[in-house]
Amino acid sequence: MNRRDFLIGTAASAGALGAGGWGLAAAGEAQQLTIQPASFAFRETPTEGLVSLSPDAPPPVLYGTQGEPMRLRVVNRTEDYTAMHWHGLRIANAMDGVPYLTQMPIAGGESFDYEFTPPDAGTYWYHPHCMTMAQMAHGLTGVMVIREAENPGFDGDQAINLRDFRLDDQGAFLPYYTARGAARGGTHGNVLTANWLQAPVYDHPAGGLVRLRVVNTDTTRIYKLHLSTDQARIIAWDGHPVDLGIPLPSAQEPLLAGPGQRVDFAVRMPADEGQTVDLLAELPGQPARTMARMRAIGADLARDLRELKPLPANPIARPDLAKAEVHDFVFGWTPEGGAPNDGYCGSMGYSFWSINRTPWAGDAAKGSGPLATLERGKSYVLRLRNESPNLHPIHLHGLAFVPVRSNLRKLPALVTDTLLLLKDEVAEIALVADNPGDWAFHCHVIEHQKTGLAGYIRVT
Ligand code: C2O
Ligand code: CU
Ligand code: CU
Repeated sequence: MNRRDFLIGTAASAGALGAGGWGLAAAGEAQQLTIQPASFAFRETPTEGLVSLSPDAPPPVLYGTQGEPMRLRVVNRTEDYTAMHWHGLRIANAMDGVPYLTQMPIAGGESFDYEFTPPDAGTYWYHPHCMTMAQMAHGLTGVMVIREAENPGFDGDQAINLRDFRLDDQGAFLPYYTARGAARGGTHGNVLTANWLQAPVYDHPAGGLVRLRVVNTDTTRIYKLHLSTDQARIIAWDGHPVDLGIPLPSAQEPLLAGPGQRVDFAVRMPADEGQTVDLLAELPGQPARTMARMRAIGADLARDLRELKPLPANPIARPDLAKAEVHDFVFGWTPEGGAPNDGYCGSMGYSFWSINRTPWAGDAAKGSGPLATLERGKSYVLRLRNESPNLHPIHLHGLAFVPVRSNLRKLPALVTDTLLLLKDEVAEIALVADNPGDWAFHCHVIEHQKTGLAGYIRVT
């Protein structure tokens, strides 16, 4: 692991969002999201068996505004159960979309009305939390943009949803997980996409400042990213604004973004029409791959990165480390196999992973108590120990936390909902338990989540 790896993560057609997007009041009517079977041609032949929110396209970017209510009616037009989770949003527990814990699964033909007011601006995302592996692997992951109450003044906004699909040469789905993968680093896809496309090109104003929102919604892959330009800054991480002095990743020192994580860049587009800025991913044994490309169009707007001001901070309570009670969590393998759960939300039929030496039943948490009970309003330190050789993006619902210290690296000043826990790492994260409810706490490598590495934390 080199120095830059230590830094942050350690280590469709989402069109431009015009400035006019700000200030438009959210309509009072619920937006309907219909989960349904879909097909899409990743290569020449269409792939059947996808799950999306329309018959032939990826799940769209959903937009909301900080502090304004959102109403989303999720309709299930599949034969499986489902539930929708809004990853990173600190909203009421009953709207968090975790089956058995916060709501009952949504059966085929049924719907569920989600209503919440996002307290934080930034880049978030949505995905099912029931039949999680099956539905996510088949496409059901989308970006969610929560706009700042005041327009920060970019000339363009580009969301990139990074994810893999596991397809054969004919474009048909291969089995979406393997026991071998689930017991190790997870099963990787072989068709890498950005907004379901391979190396899509998006036009943005020449010389303009574009906000590039990169979201890793993959079930498995830890992306190693950098840009082809140095005319850029990292402006936010996992939704929350960061100090603009964080150095840019490079080919030698790429940014690690685990499943569930997001990075926002401010990119100054090249001045000359037709020139491009590429988002690149390092893959083992291959030259850097262009995941997506932004192309300059029109007359040079002659913007300057020095015009950038930090985004306004989100209203996150600062934990009091002196008073914080410490809770320990150990993530590792489990000696016992078996123990598939008995819920409607899908089981992979194995237990490979554990939290505090217990393999948890994941989505069907019936009968299993919380991993920890926190008192509302108090500060806590959660000490996370990785006893396995694999990396784990550890995600907590409903609460934002700050990484405090690690035995392996200097952790940057961040507010986040996911920490990519390295091999042999012991990391401490701190938070104020200010949102009551039962909050899922799990690895975001979905094969780990579904085979034991998923519990919950209670805030009373
Ligand atoms: Cu992306 Cu339990 O969440
Ligand atoms: Cu989440
Ligand atoms: Cu994991």
